[in-house]
Amino acid sequence: MPDHFRDVLTTQPHLPAADPALVSRAAFGPDFVWGTATAAYQIEGAVDRDGRGPSIWDTFSHQRGKIKTGEHGDIACEFYDRYEDDLRLHKALGFPHFRFSIAWSRILPDGLGPQHGGRVNEAGLAFYDRLIDHCLSLGMTPWITLYHWDLPQALENLGGWPNRKIVDWFADYVDVCTKTFGPKVKHWIILNEPLASSVLGYFTGTHAPGRRSLRALLPSIHHTALAQAEGGRVVRRNVPDAHVGTTFSCSPVDPYTDATRDRAAAKRVDALLNRLFIEPALGMGYPTDELSFLNGIFKKHAQPGDLEKLAFDFDFIGLQHYFRVVVEHTYFVPYIWSKDISPLSRGVQTITEMGWEVNPDSLYRVIQRFSQYDGIRKLYITESGAAFYDTVQQGHVHDPQRISYHQDYLQSVLRAKNDGFAVDGYFVWTFLDNFEWAEGYRPRFGLVYVDFRTQQRIVKDSGHWFQQLLTDPVDWS
Ligand code: NOJ
Repeated sequence: MPDHFRDVLTTQPHLPAADPALVSRAAFGPDFVWGTATAAYQIEGAVDRDGRGPSIWDTFSHQRGKIKTGEHGDIACEFYDRYEDDLRLHKALGFPHFRFSIAWSRILPDGLGPQHGGRVNEAGLAFYDRLIDHCLSLGMTPWITLYHWDLPQALENLGGWPNRKIVDWFADYVDVCTKTFGPKVKHWIILNEPLASSVLGYFTGTHAPGRRSLRALLPSIHHTALAQAEGGRVVRRNVPDAHVGTTFSCSPVDPYTDATRDRAAAKRVDALLNRLFIEPALGMGYPTDELSFLNGIFKKHAQPGDLEKLAFDFDFIGLQHYFRVVVEHTYFVPYIWSKDISPLSRGVQTITEMGWEVNPDSLYRVIQRFSQYDGIRKLYITESGAAFYDTVQQGHVHDPQRISYHQDYLQSVLRAKNDGFAVDGYFVWTFLDNFEWAEGYRPRFGLVYVDFRTQQRIVKDSGHWFQQLLTDPVDWS
């Protein structure tokens, strides 16, 4: 038995327990979905194994200066080889649902699928098939994210997201995945945080592929939004009994002062952060009322019928909330005319290692806000979590801040649920400490500590806290 597994099963009376007066599993009801979320490039490693093609994150992370710590995802958590033990550990922690993403370039090494003359990599399919089977054999429900930012490099070489052909390339990839895994997997997420992959990838250049181009911005947004809906249609066609959704990063946006121009700035930022991808999916088009530059999409990049093609009736929307945003007006940032007031300069005391404000009420607010849209049927919190500085002391990782974080954020979810909002699940970001994109391995979000030199896993106190919350018997009668 691996050490970490023995560790999790040992009773550890010194550990902080969930206070049932604050959070109890019973309060959320028997149908509430409890899971953790992960992403392929952040945990798998094995980037050159079994025919996987390179992705934009392989290329980007190996370029000097792109990752703050100079690191990359070549090895990461070695989840590719360790998934069996890791999933057993996940089960032991009590989580019945596991969210992971498929690396497009493991399935289609050159990005292109059979409908575009591409080659399917059977070994890549076999890996996910084993992973899914293992999950199911442990009684856990797999939730597959189809795109969590790791575009095949070969497709970036053909123009990437700014090339309209990507909508068909993506549909082809989704077709292969859903035809293969659809009989076993019923929970599908089309995109993870499309705002990040388009804006950070093609405009600010802080994420892969690292392009900084105003010209690439609008087409990458539009094609991502089209792919989101098209991917939904392919899942629905191939897996008629699928529960299909997509996920968004979302943040309440507050004006720094009550001045009219600060309030106007907050509305623009809100349109960018919260409305850009949900509104076209709901058939409402882009939020051009606040962001007139988005008119360029329909002027220059759209084809007849696109407004309809952007819409898709998702079964659920996944909300991923990490920070509240406070902005003031400025003349120095074109188009958006606003700038962020950082938590530190606002005197906020409780911030995470990412510099993000801890503010549980914000989670309530985003649930409330998205619930105002007609046409959203169900919400899940598909990611929630925090990075804090963790150290190993005599084989333990004491992370009381992370416990409080989840306890407080779960209370917000419960309050929203009790107020009648259709929120029905919580996926912790994340199961294992992992490769935090441009930040490297330093920020640790996991419930399980990973020693990246030895690959040893140590369940943090927060992992034990969840274990106690989720494995204590509940009388549902
Ligand atoms: C959202 C992203 O989906 C995930 O990949 C990332 O690690 C977390 N945010 C934390 O930044």
